Amino acid sequence: MKKPILLEFQSKIDVRGNLSFLEELKDVPFEIKRVYWITNIPEQQVRGGHAHKTDQQVIICLKGRVQVLLESKAQDLFEVELNESNQGLYIPPMWWGKMVFSQDALLLGLSSEEFSEEDYIRERDKF
Ligand code: TYD
Repeated sequence: MKKPILLEFQSKIDVRGNLSFLEELKDVPFEIKRVYWITNIPEQQVRGGHAHKTDQQVIICLKGRVQVLLESKAQDLFEVELNESNQGLYIPPMWWGKMVFSQDALLLGLSSEEFSEEDYIRERDKF
């Protein structure tokens, strides 16, 4: 079973700001078929509450803070706070995820699959 990994992307930091970058298959372990982002998040908002059957993701907190709690079918736990824009969390298939956001958070998600509601497991007892 694949495990979550905290990824660190390359950055160019100077007085003009921080520029970070990634390439598919080199810096994230899949071809990127979809990108999504979440904005305008209320303080301490909880999102997630599902697993994916096949979709692999990398989530990047571009601004603010996101606490992420992942749980495998075997009940392994992986918990991390994302608060650096050059970090990404690799989430393999079949890990149940829950995220708690700070109010100013901006989350970017990269997905290995096109969107399909069929790929979600949203009921805990079906996980
Ligand atoms: P969902 O993945 O459940 O959000 P979160 O895990 O952050 O709570 O997605 C919320 C809704 O948006 C759901 O109806 C599916 C839809 N959605 C898309 O249509 N395309 C996408 O790429 C994503 C990520 C979600």
